[in-house]
Amino acid sequence: MLKRKDLLGLKDCSAEEITEILDGAAEAEKFLSTGYKSCETLKGKALVTLFYENSTRTRTSFELAGKYLGASEVNISVATSSVQKGETLIDTGKTLDAMKIDFIVIRHPMAGAPKLLAENVNASVINGGDGMHEHPTQALLDMYTIRKVYGKISGLKIAILGDLKHSRVAMSNLFGLKKLGAEVYMYAPSTMIPKEIEKLGAHIAKSREEAIDGADAVMGLRIQLERQHGGLFPSLSEYAKFYGVNDALLKYAKKGAVVLHPGPVNRGVELTPQVIDGEKSKILEQVTGGLCVRMSVLKLLSEYREANA
Ligand code: CP
Repeated sequence: MLKRKDLLGLKDCSAEEITEILDGAAEAEKFLSTGYKSCETLKGKALVTLFYENSTRTRTSFELAGKYLGASEVNISVATSSVQKGETLIDTGKTLDAMKIDFIVIRHPMAGAPKLLAENVNASVINGGDGMHEHPTQALLDMYTIRKVYGKISGLKIAILGDLKHSRVAMSNLFGLKKLGAEVYMYAPSTMIPKEIEKLGAHIAKSREEAIDGADAVMGLRIQLERQHGGLFPSLSEYAKFYGVNDALLKYAKKGAVVLHPGPVNRGVELTPQVIDGEKSKILEQVTGGLCVRMSVLKLLSEYREANA
């Protein structure tokens, strides 16, 4: 059982907790393979998605995960909610609590917003991405996808290329992959490498080839244009040429290596269309894994709530 009310990041999760979530995701995938999309695991529970930033995958898969497990589910459209009248995050959270909801999935541009919310509500808070901080369920689904291919994470070499500086996906993956025993190699323009990331266990490669050499999985990251102020690279076409992933580079990876990307992908920038649609690509399997991981997280947090009611 997860020993926590909220899932805010992987930095504080143990290897055992991460493994339990991945095992639960495998169970969820087995259940979905029967063709049923309804059960009573979360019957009587309520889930709210509260997204202050755009999303397709995270929001939809949490909403479907809740529905498939039998919970009631509501999305709050921040653009048309009382947030626009100046309501604070804490007041919004307390208002949702007063409606007796059990889970809030939040995405927010400010790092730490989910923690602030979690400290002020009874509902379990799940971080759906906060600023440049963490996106724990994205990393969990990435690890789930890799584990499905190799049956393990320990001992694998994972290459992560792209906008490391603004990427909450990279941070959560670094924490999670290291805890499960992988080696993480990273490469980016020098303007996009966070200070001191090597202290967290990342190997910063000097070239794309070095990062990808012998890798079991190669992950491209989306350029976070919404979090940049420009000037980090000359142009998108030059970024693609010098920092993107193409078929020629993938020849350096291990035979059978897989390609991941959290999405949404800027086609022809982070990855070429041939890589995105090629046989190594696991991008759509990641989306399915995301649904399963989120079902697992909701179930485990619900069990914690029941045990600590
Ligand atoms: N990977 C990811 O978080 O995608 P969305 O922004 O579509 O949720």
